[in-house]
Amino acid sequence: MELNIAVLPGDGIGSEISAQGVLVLETIARRFNHKFIFRTGLIGAAAIEAVGDPFPNETMQLCLDSDAILFSAVGDPRYDNDPTSPVRPEQGLLKMRKSLELYANIRPISTYKSLLERSPLKEEVIEGADFVCVRELTGGMYFGEKYESVDKAYDTNVYSRNEIERILRVAYGYALNRNKHLTVVDKANVLASSRLWRKVAQEMEKEYPEVKTDYMFVDNASMRLIQDPRFFDVLVTENTFGDILTDEASVITGSMGLLPSASTGEKTPLFEPVHGSWPEAAGKHIANPIAQILSAAMLLEHFGLKDEGKIVRDAVQASIENSIRTPDIQKKELKPYTTEEVGEWIADYCSKAN
Ligand code: IPM
Ligand code: MN
Repeated sequence: MELNIAVLPGDGIGSEISAQGVLVLETIARRFNHKFIFRTGLIGAAAIEAVGDPFPNETMQLCLDSDAILFSAVGDPRYDNDPTSPVRPEQGLLKMRKSLELYANIRPISTYKSLLERSPLKEEVIEGADFVCVRELTGGMYFGEKYESVDKAYDTNVYSRNEIERILRVAYGYALNRNKHLTVVDKANVLASSRLWRKVAQEMEKEYPEVKTDYMFVDNASMRLIQDPRFFDVLVTENTFGDILTDEASVITGSMGLLPSASTGEKTPLFEPVHGSWPEAAGKHIANPIAQILSAAMLLEHFGLKDEGKIVRDAVQASIENSIRTPDIQKKELKPYTTEEVGEWIADYCSKAN
């Protein structure tokens, strides 16, 4: 298969983990006789510095001309600490998601047996947890009307029936292929937008009689996620709730550095780690490349390359089992490996494994 892949490293640890994602994809291409063509683009603070725009037209064009996007992270403390800044790195990612209409963000959460002890949660609570968060990605407060003045500000949480319906269809699709249990997370006791979500979901659940649909308020869901994560099979929710709940859910796996995601919709699909740019770690070679590498596995699987995806997943699993781990997940008594050492070990495994 020939694939044109846009590579967008972005900020902070972005370029370090991006290189590992590309290395693994190159290894897979060589082994399976695929042709992957990588072209790099600017995004985030790096793009603001270079051309004054967090998502330059050139990057947009590169994305549109590609079959897939491998993105890493954006964010820079210089902008976080300056709320008056007219331009922010995050706008680059948001503009990319919106202009490519990538409304469905798929964030799978599962545990690794040998990492159970790394989670602050009790092993008996998290063992076997395995679910998928389906986060709506192009609506809600992120993109609704905003107002900011000296003493007043607001964000509007707008959702249309069509936006709710299409993300619920994606979520039902996952539920049908998994354990046929869908949890719709909202705040329908308070928010009008959530009441529309619930109404649309209640209408649609009749179309999916094989799936058990239940409804949960987001405050309760945030508790249930860490109290009884095995309850969940597929969880679907709006943009802001999904952002918050998936950071929380990363605690189940033991590290934020392990969670990949796929953002799909109308145009070029985007594969992005759930974590941010971790600026404090940039250049230190301590960032975990696994979220990026598993995002690359999701990219392969998106194009039907199942065996390829499986080898990457096996390689990741083997690296963890063999304690080839970055500091965030390494055992206390063992020396941690660098971002590059872990990436190279995983790539090497991919080139040799059966
Ligand atoms: C994420 C991130 C982004 C978001 C930021 C960087 C804009 O936190 O992908 O979860 O809020 O969606
Ligand atoms: Mn987030």
